Amino acid sequence: MSLQIRSLEAYQKAYQESIECPADFWASIAEQFVWRKKWDKVLDYDWLKPTTQWFLGAQLNITENCLDRHLVTRPDQTAIVWEPNDPNEPSQQISYKELHSQVCSFANVLKNNGVQKGDRVCLYMPMVAELAVAVLACARIGAVHSVVFAGFSSSALAVRINDAQCKVLLTADGGFRGHKITPLKDIADEALKTCPSIQKVIVYQRTRQNITWNPSLDVWWHEELQKVNNHCPAEPMDAEDMLFILYTSGSTGKPKGMVHTCGGYMVYTAYSFQNVFQYQEGDMYWCTADIGWITGHSYIVYGPLLSGATTLMFEGVPSYHDFGRFWEICEKHKVNQFYTAPTAIRALAKYPVELVTKYDLSNLKVLGTVGEPINEEAWHWYDQHVGKHRCPIVDTWWQTETGGIMISSLAGITADKPTFATHPLPGIQPVLLDQQGNEITATKAEGILAIKHPWPSLARTIYGDHKRYKDVYFAAYPTYYFPGDGALRDAGGNYRITGRVDDVVIVSGHNLGTAPIENAVNEHEKVVESAVVGFPHEVKGNALYAYVTTYDDVVPSADLTQEIKEIVSKTIGPIAKPDKIQFVKGLPKTRSGKIMRRILRKIAAKDTSNLGDVSTLLNPEVVQDIINHSL
Ligand code: WT7
Repeated sequence: MSLQIRSLEAYQKAYQESIECPADFWASIAEQFVWRKKWDKVLDYDWLKPTTQWFLGAQLNITENCLDRHLVTRPDQTAIVWEPNDPNEPSQQISYKELHSQVCSFANVLKNNGVQKGDRVCLYMPMVAELAVAVLACARIGAVHSVVFAGFSSSALAVRINDAQCKVLLTADGGFRGHKITPLKDIADEALKTCPSIQKVIVYQRTRQNITWNPSLDVWWHEELQKVNNHCPAEPMDAEDMLFILYTSGSTGKPKGMVHTCGGYMVYTAYSFQNVFQYQEGDMYWCTADIGWITGHSYIVYGPLLSGATTLMFEGVPSYHDFGRFWEICEKHKVNQFYTAPTAIRALAKYPVELVTKYDLSNLKVLGTVGEPINEEAWHWYDQHVGKHRCPIVDTWWQTETGGIMISSLAGITADKPTFATHPLPGIQPVLLDQQGNEITATKAEGILAIKHPWPSLARTIYGDHKRYKDVYFAAYPTYYFPGDGALRDAGGNYRITGRVDDVVIVSGHNLGTAPIENAVNEHEKVVESAVVGFPHEVKGNALYAYVTTYDDVVPSADLTQEIKEIVSKTIGPIAKPDKIQFVKGLPKTRSGKIMRRILRKIAAKDTSNLGDVSTLLNPEVVQDIINHSL
């Protein structure tokens, strides 16, 4: 299967066709996959409701496309290279034939443990190859995987398990990350105190640390594998059946369980993978994300395996054993395409450049970034020291909700431009809207980014809450999909994403809603209320600043600051800990009682020369006091 565009003219032609007749365009792409039954209709949608369906009536199993199909053409080719946290531990190479066998075996383990089609399975796992195997094993039998990033706390895990009513939890005794060990089983045990839907816990042995064993729930992964064979027919799925749920933070309340479906997600992740990265037969592709995020789902597991690629999975962190580890791995495995986050680039750029230059990076052909806007300095550092000015850089804008890359250059085919995601992929119709929701017709403009027409991998709903799905993505600007980002467009039609326009802050590439963090802060008995905003941070892109009011008799202290950080860490995860906590007499509020975050954001960014209109404030006097004591 080659879905690849190989010239600028071919891109322009494909883009044109995809706009003029989206159904024919996507049908011709979809033809190249293995279907149990072809579709009756390519697309049906109504974004006022909103509903979107692709490949209606078709049947498939995504693992037949990721695995079985390759058994004929490339059985012995390496599918997954696994690089351990500890550089002295051997890496693993898993061929397509072996991966197929492991997936089928583990699918049988799932079945033996009561998992049926449609059941939700939660995966709370370190970055071991078995995580990818388990994801595919779920898909094999039509179970819905819900991967929860292993850095999340027990309560964050519990919320996600309960929301999806997961039946089985897959976890490990612990996970290695740099010098640290995450006690995954202990955290899971804590979560399960409040998760009655879980009937079985399958535990992978990785760190061999001591764990508490609960005989009524727990079984060992390796012992269960002893009981099965490696034959497992793929379950035929409707194109619109659920493939997975993946949680992303919202600006209010609990996380949103984004639902992705089998057919459209398959077609779009493979198409975008092959085109953006220009993967060629025999290449070694590495995406440094964790499978706990959408980047890992779409561009470590599904996109590459659908394309018959070799995909590298790294268990560890960029700083271990030293800050040259990424480049050491690039040299060791002769990586050709390297895809990471701006926050990682900024962190590594702080160290002596010898940590990069001492490695042979001559195999690199393509560099990529994802997760947040990349700043000019980081872009040039990446281009110069890693890419040696000879690798195109794809700055890929997309979201958990979009399933795949939406705006990006195609490596070496369309031009890149520092700090710009550039042009949409075929099938993607971005527009800029003004505050009233009108499309801005001028090419050079700045506005609210919106998408005008469905593409196959759009998340279809928020699990269990379709109303919220409508409210968040389709209500503000009816008939458009609203991603929540602002953007500008240059005279050449290149898009540059300028950042969130809602209360979501991207910290080190992690999408964090401020509301859940405020809720956590407010749980401290001495806290009355709080407002959390982002502020620019040299390495993390953004960091969190919490403004906190306490009860009158409370004397703010370093201990209190520490206690609040601990609560946030425990409730959401260490990533959500505010960098700065300022105790204030009051929060600036509008007459309707809404905290004016705009002002707090400016103070946090030390940009107080023009605070804008404060006339609607109920208590303007608090503002100067906050400025005087700001951190
Ligand atoms: C938000 C989505 C997509 C996988 C990782 C994050 C921001 C993402 C870029 C980029 C500027 C970007 C947006 C978006 N974002 N990529 N290349 N340039 N901003 O997925 O956690 O769902 O976050 O990340 O603000 O809305 P996510």
